[in-house]
Amino acid sequence: MKRTIQVKQIPNLKEAAKREMNLQPEFIYQSVEMDETMKNLGKNKKFFVRTYGCQGNLRDGEVIEGILSKMQYEKTENLQEADVIILNTCAVRENAEKKVFGEIGLLKKLKLTNPDLIFGVCGCMVQQEHIVKKILETCEHVDLVFGTHNIHHLPSLLKEAYFSKERVIEVLSNQGNIAEDLPSIRASKTKAWVNIMYGCNKFCTYCIVPYTRGKERSRKSVDILKEIQELKDQGYLEVTVLGQNVNAYGKDLHDISFAQLLEQIALIGIKRIRFTTSHPWDFSEELIDVIAKYDNIMPHIHLPVQSGDDTILRKMGRRYTTQSYLELVQKIRTKIPNVALTTDIIVGFPNESEENFENTLKLVEQVRYDSAFTFIYSPRVGTPAARLEDNVDMTTKKQRFNRLTAVISKIQLEKYKTYQDQVVKVLVEGYSKTNPSILSGYTEDMKLVNFKGNPEFIGKIVPVLIHKCKTFTLEGEILETRCAQA
Ligand code: 5AD
Ligand code: SF4
Repeated sequence: MKRTIQVKQIPNLKEAAKREMNLQPEFIYQSVEMDETMKNLGKNKKFFVRTYGCQGNLRDGEVIEGILSKMQYEKTENLQEADVIILNTCAVRENAEKKVFGEIGLLKKLKLTNPDLIFGVCGCMVQQEHIVKKILETCEHVDLVFGTHNIHHLPSLLKEAYFSKERVIEVLSNQGNIAEDLPSIRASKTKAWVNIMYGCNKFCTYCIVPYTRGKERSRKSVDILKEIQELKDQGYLEVTVLGQNVNAYGKDLHDISFAQLLEQIALIGIKRIRFTTSHPWDFSEELIDVIAKYDNIMPHIHLPVQSGDDTILRKMGRRYTTQSYLELVQKIRTKIPNVALTTDIIVGFPNESEENFENTLKLVEQVRYDSAFTFIYSPRVGTPAARLEDNVDMTTKKQRFNRLTAVISKIQLEKYKTYQDQVVKVLVEGYSKTNPSILSGYTEDMKLVNFKGNPEFIGKIVPVLIHKCKTFTLEGEILETRCAQA
C-alpha cells in the first residue's frame, strides 16, 4: 500500500531563478531548534551520511552529522546498523544523479531488515522538481526529502517522518537565508572548510547551481572571523573558505570585499588559508595583492576557465574573453611568481566545433595549468544550454575529452618533475589511501605528496624531500632532523 505524503514544500524552478537584488537574506541565529523529543530521538541509534559532490556539499554533510549528533544519534560507517541513512546529493552533472539513483535502489533491501529505518535524500539533486517527482513515484522506500535551504529543520523533519510514518517532503525553492550557529562534526582535526557565502547569481548557461543554491548571499564577516578564530584556538592548521564564487563576497552586504576579508583572516594567524572557487570575471587586483602579501595565504588559485574559445565562452555566459583571462593569469603570475594555477574545463558544450575545441587546447598549452578538472558537458533540466540543439555526437565528445586530458597530463607531469630533489612543506593528513604504511598530505601549492616518515608527524607541517615525480603525485621522505624548523 502506498503511504501518504506530507508535502510541506516542493521545489519550483521559476521561484529558484528569481533574484530580487534589494531583498536582504534573513540571518537566523541558533537556527537549529529542538524540543525534548528531538533531543532524545537518536538515543541508542546510529546514523550514516553519504555526501556526493563539491566541498560546499561536504561542509553541509558535516552540519547534517552535527545536527544528528545533537539528537544523540551516533555515527556509523556501517550501513547495515544505521537507523537513519541520509544521501546528500549533487546535481551538477547527470553522472552524479545516476549514481545516487543506483544507491537509492541498492538501499531498499535494508528496509526489510530494519522497518524503522528512516531513509532521507537531501542536497542539490532534490532541489529539482523532476527529481522529487521521480523519487516520489519510483522510490517508495525514501521517507524524507529535504532541500539545501532546509538543513537546519532536520530535527523536526526527522521527528515527523519517524512518528507519522508518512513520507515527508520539505524542499524550499527561494533565494535563501543564512542559518548560523550550526553544529557540525568536521571531517578533519587539522583542516576545515568555512562557508563565507552561499548561492550564485552568475547563471552560466550550463549550470544548475544558481537554481539549487539560491541567491548570492554573504555571511557577516564577524561570524566568519569568529569561526576561524575558534578553529585556530582548537589547533586547526588550515582553513579553506568556500563559496560558489568567493570574489562576489560582501557585494550584497555593502561591507568589506573578499580581498579585505581574506586579509583579516590572514591576520588571525592560522597557518594555511585556501579559498575556492574564484570566477575570473571579478577577480580583483586588490585580491592578487593580498594573496602576494601574506605567507599564510597559500599560493594556489583555482580559476575555472571552462573553455578556451570566445564564441563558446559567450554562449556559456561566462562574462570574460580568452584575452582577458590570459591577462589575469599574467597579472597573477607577475605578482605571485610561485603560484599554482588549476582550472575546470567543459568539453562538448552544444555545437562545439573542432576549431572551438582546438582553441581550448591552445589555451591549456599557453597557461600550462598545474592540474585541471575536465568534464563532458551534461545537459541540466531548466538551464538555457539544455534547450540548445546539439550537433556533436558523444563519440566525438569523448575523443575530445581524451585529447584534452592527454595534453593536461603531459603538462602536469612536466610541472611535477620540477619538484625532483626539492624540499617542500607538507601538512601531514594521515596515511596514504593506497598504502597504509606511507603518509600523505599536500604542499602549500596543493600537490599531493606520499612519503615515508614517522606517524607522529600526522597533523603537523613538515619538510619533505622529493625523490620521485609522477603525473598526479610526488613521492619522498620527511626530513626529520629539519622538522623543528618547519
Ligand atoms: N556539465 C558539465 N560540467 C559542468 N560543470 C558545471 N555544470 C556542468 C554541466 N552541466 C562543471 C564546471 C564547474 C564544475 C564544478 O563543474 O566546470 O566549474
Ligand atoms: Fe555555476 Fe557559473 Fe555559478 Fe560557477 S559561477 S556555480 S559555473 S553558475
